Amino acid sequence: MESSLTYEAALAALAWQVELGVSDAIGDSPIDRHTLGAAAAAARPAPVAAPPPRAASPTLASPPTPAADQVAAVARARAAAEGAGTLGALASAMEQAPSDLRLGARHFVFADGNPQARLMIVGEAPGRDEDLEGRPFVGKAGQLLDRMLAAIGLARDHPDPAQSVYITNVLPWRPPGNRTPDPAEIAEFLPFLERHIALAAPDALLLMGNTPCQALFGQAGITRIRGAWRQVQGIPALATFHPAYLLRTPAAKREAWADLLALRARLSEGAAKAGGGR
Ligand code: URA
Repeated sequence: MESSLTYEAALAALAWQVELGVSDAIGDSPIDRHTLGAAAAAARPAPVAAPPPRAASPTLASPPTPAADQVAAVARARAAAEGAGTLGALASAMEQAPSDLRLGARHFVFADGNPQARLMIVGEAPGRDEDLEGRPFVGKAGQLLDRMLAAIGLARDHPDPAQSVYITNVLPWRPPGNRTPDPAEIAEFLPFLERHIALAAPDALLLMGNTPCQALFGQAGITRIRGAWRQVQGIPALATFHPAYLLRTPAAKREAWADLLALRARLSEGAAKAGGGR
């Protein structure tokens, strides 16, 4: 659409539409989505080239940019996380942290298993079942995770720290439709995850899938990253495939099994060094 609107007039028109309840910019003409198909795809408006940067207006105060908002949100999260001296305090600080994700979630999902465990597992985010129950990894992927752990002699609720695990996720709220967490969400919850790891002080970390690798290694690409030990906050950390991926791709179970054996060897090495104690 050709437009000769000034910036101020366009801003006023936008404010008026927001006042009327418009929440999404879709197109200039209505679309019958029941008959969507090739014709509707063809009718979709062509992408509009980005306008050139606008010179700062001397009369309008600049609203904070998304980047500035994000920096402030991460700084708030870091202050809240660092102020938590116990896992309980961390859970309540995290639950109160502002996040749009909580609007669409039923339950806050913090952790499960034995907080004294020598192994801490980090997943992505709650899914539908976890959101309903308020515990991480309780759906089909979680059941596979339990079987994988049992195969190397570990169980989430075992009272012995050497035989149990402690499980958490990068995000404590279910993303809508189980979508992958976006970089801003990961950044805003990372200070809590780092504090969580510091307070639980495990001897080893197991990262399940790309999202915890992105958060804690600053890198995704699980096929290349998996199976090699790295350090996170001075703790040996191993990445492996997410159990949901293994459900969809059973051929990858062979590599996941190799990772589990490497994990078991590392944990037994540590136990031998510590004389069997923690
Ligand atoms: N997938 C995850 O990464 N975490 C859960 O808690 C459940 C499914």
